[in-house]
Amino acid sequence: MTAAFDKAYRATIVHFTDAPNPQTGAGLEYFEDGVLLVDAQGHVVTVGHAWNLERQGLDLNLCQHSPDQLLMPGLIDSHIHYPQTEVIASYGEQLIDWLNHYTFPAEQAFSDVEYARHEAERFVDLLLAHGTTTAMVYTTVYPQSTDAFFDVARQRDLCMLAGKVMMDRNAPDALLDTATDSERQCRALIERWHHTGRLHYALTPRFAPTSTPEQLRLTGELYRAYEGLYLQTHLSENLNEVEWVKTLFPDARDYLDVYDRYGLLGERSVFGHGLHLSDVELQRLADTGSSVAFCPTSNLFLGSGLLNARRLKEAGVSISIATDVGGGTSFSMLRTLAEGYKVLQLQGQSLHPLQAFYWITLGNARALKLDHRIGNFAPGKDADFILIDRSPSPLQAYRQTRTKTLAESLFALMMLGDENNIASTYVMGQRQFQRQSARA
Ligand code: GUN
Ligand code: ZN
Repeated sequence: MTAAFDKAYRATIVHFTDAPNPQTGAGLEYFEDGVLLVDAQGHVVTVGHAWNLERQGLDLNLCQHSPDQLLMPGLIDSHIHYPQTEVIASYGEQLIDWLNHYTFPAEQAFSDVEYARHEAERFVDLLLAHGTTTAMVYTTVYPQSTDAFFDVARQRDLCMLAGKVMMDRNAPDALLDTATDSERQCRALIERWHHTGRLHYALTPRFAPTSTPEQLRLTGELYRAYEGLYLQTHLSENLNEVEWVKTLFPDARDYLDVYDRYGLLGERSVFGHGLHLSDVELQRLADTGSSVAFCPTSNLFLGSGLLNARRLKEAGVSISIATDVGGGTSFSMLRTLAEGYKVLQLQGQSLHPLQAFYWITLGNARALKLDHRIGNFAPGKDADFILIDRSPSPLQAYRQTRTKTLAESLFALMMLGDENNIASTYVMGQRQFQRQSARA
């Protein structure tokens, strides 16, 4: 007999039990006609072939049946800014000018808690409509904007990581905190939100240029003071930024050392970009188990550079993949994979479709140390999942008819797909998004 379950979903199911081997398919679990069973608390009971579960006594008539859809774990975005939805696709600048012209003015509006709440709702709606169920999120310097985000995420029972941006220099006055105020505000936020429901607090010094040594020192103290905290910041994204950091921290060995000397490296530390790192910096990231978030649409859009993923991997650095909206140009992890593929192609490197879909599910869950809860359909995990329509447009429908293997089909999906492929999104077994299909 199958174990007790509350809901049963029947579709073509893909998930990963480990990093896949593209040659042998090890690590991939694929059920052409599969069933996912979820219990009343929203946890995975089991996943398997429909015929096998039927043989064990499951009445297939009880399933919600989506024969033409692909069911996979909810997608994970390891670096994104919720106040930047409104500046996505802003013309013409590289990092520092883009921050000054577009981003900093937009973030000032988030001192208004009503506005922040409204934008948090919009942002979470957008994530779910793009199939993303977990994200590591920058809020703004205003703690009320962080409260607004966590409040919205908590109401929807989402697994999210987020934190208040800390900046005490080199930004408009209205966006500055002080080292001691930010420490006090972070403590209050951590105590209110960290490990509440499925939420995790991430200390968020924006990047070295906008924090004084004192603010970074207090951030390091906080990092050590609470169990299970995360840390997110930006690192070595733009060559002018790297030069600026040298002048601001003349005693530091290199950019990473600015963070290292205050104890900000570690297994729960996620560094956005990391495009222009030395071998010494890579070694230090690897030795401390710190990870880099690869943000291909942002790196191309802001003209920041190409991540040499092979070099990082060979150095033993863990890499997650992320949108970095609003520097990034799409909320879609499918589009992010497509741009990531092209960034690697330009360097003679490859991204196999099985590795790509592993990356945006279990791979990112592992990089964020959340793989005990999300990332695949192992029994007991949280049932965050999506249903994908591989043929939402005439072109995709036609291309899919010409694919002969799962890998070919997934590759066409990642290169041609976007949010229009996301048919529905489930969080803890509850449907929270359903696309109103133009073709229906
Ligand atoms: N570096 C510091 N702040 C930011 C930001 O908001 N976006 C990006 N892409 N890089 C940054
Ligand atoms: Zn960013």
